[in-house]
Amino acid sequence: MAETFPKNFLWGASTASYQIEGAVREDGRGLSIWDSFSHMPGKTANGDTGDVACDHYHRWREDVALLGELGVGAYRFSTAWPRIQPSGRGAPNEKGFEFYDRLIDALLDANIQPWLCLYHWDLPQALEDKGGWRNRDTAYWYRDYAALVARRFADRVPYWATFNEPNIFIYRGLGHGDHAPGLRNREAVWRGIHTVNLAHGLGILALRETRADLKLGNIYNLAPREPATDREQDRVACELMDAIMNRAFPDPQWLGKYPAPIAADIKPYVQDGDLDIIRQKLDFFAFNHYSRARIRWDKDDLFHIGYARIDAPVTAMGWPITPDGLRLSLVEAKERWSGDTPIYILENGAAFDDAVDGEGRVRDPRRVAFLRDYLGALLDAAASGVPVKGYFVWSLLDNFEWALGYDKRFGIVYVDYATQKRIPKDSFYFYRELARGAPLDR
Ligand code: FCB
Repeated sequence: MAETFPKNFLWGASTASYQIEGAVREDGRGLSIWDSFSHMPGKTANGDTGDVACDHYHRWREDVALLGELGVGAYRFSTAWPRIQPSGRGAPNEKGFEFYDRLIDALLDANIQPWLCLYHWDLPQALEDKGGWRNRDTAYWYRDYAALVARRFADRVPYWATFNEPNIFIYRGLGHGDHAPGLRNREAVWRGIHTVNLAHGLGILALRETRADLKLGNIYNLAPREPATDREQDRVACELMDAIMNRAFPDPQWLGKYPAPIAADIKPYVQDGDLDIIRQKLDFFAFNHYSRARIRWDKDDLFHIGYARIDAPVTAMGWPITPDGLRLSLVEAKERWSGDTPIYILENGAAFDDAVDGEGRVRDPRRVAFLRDYLGALLDAAASGVPVKGYFVWSLLDNFEWALGYDKRFGIVYVDYATQKRIPKDSFYFYRELARGAPLDR
């Protein structure tokens, strides 16, 4: 069955600063928590760091050309806070601005709409030294940073997101410890959730003040979660996980309140008026999605949350391939939070163990099947009335996959890290057909 996408459906590709840029010490960039964390022994696979990554800082021209060849209408990237403000506060670093100037201008020349995410996890280390997201002041420093970036680029960038996946960098960075800055502390999670929500609200206010017609939102990470059994303990663990992972940010930002399972934990950090700042009118609801999850009680975990197996094939990440989860999350987004507001999927994709074959080609049929199946689920959601307006693949390039380093390849373009050669995979050509308007065959 061949099915077409809604009219004016927006096709895009996403990346993030620390995962692709490299050049971590160039042109006055300060250090981020990911520089520190990845250089600590034992924190990342093979001791990989983002020092060089895809060398996008120098190869951006080639990467924009790839986007042009791909034919997407939009590109989502993030600005590295420590390039703009090396110590997280104070006067901006002109050289940092100039890099994004070049990138944005090249995108516009290629007719590709820039989508700018202000924060994809690379907090300036100097702010972490002051308590990072545990410190309420960081919300105000973030606001100042957002205002600087907006004043510089608001004339050319129409779409802005305050944060990428706040749930992930807070839960994993402060609670689970496998992401920067590597803490394992429940209280830090509750504090962090509230500071980031406050920063979001303050950031949105600063962006609107700069230019009233910007399209503003946040990028959540949503996944349907179900208890592994109907035992009380598993249900409680699942409700807690759902509150932290699905609701801790959209609930206050769209509904003006924290979800019941975590509300009492966060309350001590909420000051009068905060929730009014946090709940701003947003122009789009965006989220990233990868897979469904089954949750069980785990006595050894700090939050007593564990994962149970799902009976489905998995990607190289070990993540179950569950396309219908995308449909469920889209329906949930509309029903619970966003109503008629346009929804965008700003990340979806898969890692597989790709390799270049004897003909210099990267055949990745499993990624093609993954994209086809998830896009089919997106069409199912659209058919049931969810206003989903666009889809951005994660990722344009293979890149630094955080604690898992360069082993996990999410790109539709293969990167040979020894030479920095880019080789479009078969999935690149599949995606290009869709971006050119081909129907989805399924
Ligand atoms: C998301 C992140 C992105 C990438 C993908 C695989 O959680 O936003 O940077 O690591 O997962």
